[in-house]
Amino acid sequence: MVNKKQSDLVKKIVSLCKRRGIVFQNSEIYGGLAGFYDYGPIGSLTKYNLKNLWWKTFVLDRSDVVGIDGTIITHPQVWHASGHVKNFNDQLAECKKCHHRFRTDFITDNKCPDCGGPLTEGRTYNILFETSIGVVEGEKTKAYLRGEACQNIYLNFKNVADSTRIKVPFGIAQIGKAFRNEVNPKNFLYRVREFEQWDIEYFVHPDQMDKWYEYWKQTKLNWYQSLVNNSKKIRLRQHTQDELVFYAKKAFDVEYQAPWGWSEWEGIHWRADYDLSQHSKFSHQDLSYTDPITHQKYIPHIVETSGGVDRTFFYLLLDAYQEEQLDNGQTRTYLKLDPRISAYKICVIPLASNKEKLVNQAKQIYQQLQKRYSVDWDDSSNIGKKYRRQDEIGTPWCLVVDYQSLEDQTVTIRNRDDMSQIRIDQNKVDQWLTKQLQKN
Ligand code: GAP
Repeated sequence: MVNKKQSDLVKKIVSLCKRRGIVFQNSEIYGGLAGFYDYGPIGSLTKYNLKNLWWKTFVLDRSDVVGIDGTIITHPQVWHASGHVKNFNDQLAECKKCHHRFRTDFITDNKCPDCGGPLTEGRTYNILFETSIGVVEGEKTKAYLRGEACQNIYLNFKNVADSTRIKVPFGIAQIGKAFRNEVNPKNFLYRVREFEQWDIEYFVHPDQMDKWYEYWKQTKLNWYQSLVNNSKKIRLRQHTQDELVFYAKKAFDVEYQAPWGWSEWEGIHWRADYDLSQHSKFSHQDLSYTDPITHQKYIPHIVETSGGVDRTFFYLLLDAYQEEQLDNGQTRTYLKLDPRISAYKICVIPLASNKEKLVNQAKQIYQQLQKRYSVDWDDSSNIGKKYRRQDEIGTPWCLVVDYQSLEDQTVTIRNRDDMSQIRIDQNKVDQWLTKQLQKN
């Protein structure tokens, strides 16, 4: 059950996101479109950092994973082979009293979660988005926006194996959009209709499935834990038999303790040879692999790790959001984000915007740092307001050029989390910042 304090947190984050240019409701001037959100200047930078960090960790820093970037629309047969045309369904029921609609898989007692009214019988809806290819009426081909990004990876398994020197066991990674016509989008970015997934499909010899499944489960749990302040709010949970998706033989979710309860963050799926076998069958192509040393020919089995970028973004906001009572009775809000993910690493501030010498010196530092980092510049309003803005978008440090800086070329650096300040030589800031970022 969601208590008021917890649901208030979601409201506060939604409001902060709009106020500070993090995330906006899509098509807001037309009344909004449920389940679609746009990232603003701060949000798009933060999301970019998040995706870069993922890509660096799981592709660039590893020799057994390569990346691809596939299309959103594929041959329609892909979705027949994958089982989505037949099985990608949600059950929808409507409350007879307030007419709100709900996915029935989350409801146990057939009562409306909003008003307690009785619900209609659940009806089944396929949640693939349809589109068409071609322009001439009558000659158009029905196609689908991909319901899961990973299908492009299976389609390209053989291309990747044949065109690179990589050998099983290896992974193919991709970050990309997926679309689901969710019957009940909800909780801000948690369940939306257009979102990004980050997937690794790891291809292994069937005998090695246990080892690699355990490896990826632990690796992903550890990685998500490394991103948050409160790692106790993350756990692994095994799917019960009746929860398993149609393609999974075994599944664990990395879960987050969200305000509305433990919720999926990433799925670690034991997909075995389901995908490559299905695509072999439907395409009549041989998608098996021949081991270059043993010459054994087999269909590789797959450990899939599939998470949502937007959901991660939201969970990280939930984890980072902090409110603190100050001595002057005011409340300070700040986002305690991992500095690697924050939109800006540092904000450069001249103490007074109408003092040319201060502004010039600060501009020089700003331009120097900007060559290496994402840096903000703020010469508006008073210093308190500047700090407040940077705190709310999660900038870990603010650098202030003041009158002493004109004398001795030192600057103050203020820390977002405890508001402590240090004074350092302005020529050492670059080095200092690199060190701070490496600590994380
Ligand atoms: N290829 C497997 C797959 O797509 P999934 O569990 O359906 O598995 C993987 O999705 C991840 O994608 C989820 O753990 C979640 O983080 C994210 N996701 C799924 N549906 C979503 C939605 N409607 N809105 C936001 N994120 C979603």
